[in-house]
Amino acid sequence: MPHYYTLGSIPHKRHTQFRKPDGALYAEQLFSTEGFSNDYSLLYHHHPPTEIIKTDAPINVQPVIAEEKMLQHRSFEGFKIKPEPHYLQSRKPVLVNNDCHLVLAAPQQSMQDYFYKNADADEMIFIHEGAGVLKTLYGELDFSYGDYLVVPRGTIYQIEFTTANNRLFILESFSPIRYPKKYLSKYGQLLEHAPYCERDIRAPKNLQTYSEAGDFLIKTKKKGMLYGIHYRHHPFDVVGWDGCCYPYAFSIHDFEPLTGRVHQPPPVHQTFEGNNYVVCSFVPRLFDYHPDAIPAPYNHSNIDSDEVLYYVDGDFMSRKHVTRGMINLHPGGIPHGPHPGAVLKSIGARETNELAVMVDTFHPLQLTTTALEIENEGYVMSWAE
Ligand SMILES: [Fe+2]
Repeated sequence: MPHYYTLGSIPHKRHTQFRKPDGALYAEQLFSTEGFSNDYSLLYHHHPPTEIIKTDAPINVQPVIAEEKMLQHRSFEGFKIKPEPHYLQSRKPVLVNNDCHLVLAAPQQSMQDYFYKNADADEMIFIHEGAGVLKTLYGELDFSYGDYLVVPRGTIYQIEFTTANNRLFILESFSPIRYPKKYLSKYGQLLEHAPYCERDIRAPKNLQTYSEAGDFLIKTKKKGMLYGIHYRHHPFDVVGWDGCCYPYAFSIHDFEPLTGRVHQPPPVHQTFEGNNYVVCSFVPRLFDYHPDAIPAPYNHSNIDSDEVLYYVDGDFMSRKHVTRGMINLHPGGIPHGPHPGAVLKSIGARETNELAVMVDTFHPLQLTTTALEIENEGYVMSWAE
């Protein structure tokens, strides 16, 4: 839930006449992701955002489930996902449940002749490799390595990459992606103990307004189907907006780690949350400073959650054979912990330069066919080596 922001021109009073220089009315749109009783924005369009001129036959993009149930530690080689020219084709769901989908993507080209809207899910797009601009009807967000782009469901967007080698780790959330409640004051300010604050949140800028008519295709995803909906006017025809519901960027490099004399539990790394899952950022930090501290994590039984670690960069003190883009899945129900030798090796270490994103889901994840294609066999036995 970002804070109040405004860009471009808006009328003094909401829901009143707001006219163009020629006297015609702008079209007001209320945008919210949870009905009329939660955060929202008001956008002012040159043309009503309702002028559909053509619809295409829908395409099924539902993830194909390969394993619905399982109880085994798993490991996947995320960078083995093949690069694809087009953004939507490049998105490959790997682990899914009813609360969120975890998706890998290696798109090579900018989106040029279409726009995209995820009507089902807020998206958190983590930029592992690549840079560019996320263009939306709210304005533009520049992005580069380490950025989380948080896009409320329903936001129309287009991504322009300035790089050809792009690696994205995407979380599709079927509930709004929010700042953790424990970081917020009663009235919604990020508190002093939170690992980031409002200054770290980048709101859209450079609002470009396109009022031309034509045939504008918005590929819209709903319940696993992709609908091609053509509109008469450019979707980025907004002259101004204000409110608390908009896409934003937050860099993992701006996450300030909370450390202690002894090992701190994963919740200190929490970054976002949604219904039945949390997102954590593991960033370079000083290790625990008690004279007898063991910096490696203790073994733990995450009985009520599946734990997904997406490795970004740096050395990982708790396990061997880690590669960039690797995903390790430790399902709830069987304990896991440091690899053999990692505990002793960690004693006396002063700091870590690891960078990773963790998603803990409170309901089990299912594996897609893509997950099996990129799986590292035998990971479950790697503690017995
Ligand atoms: Fe863990």
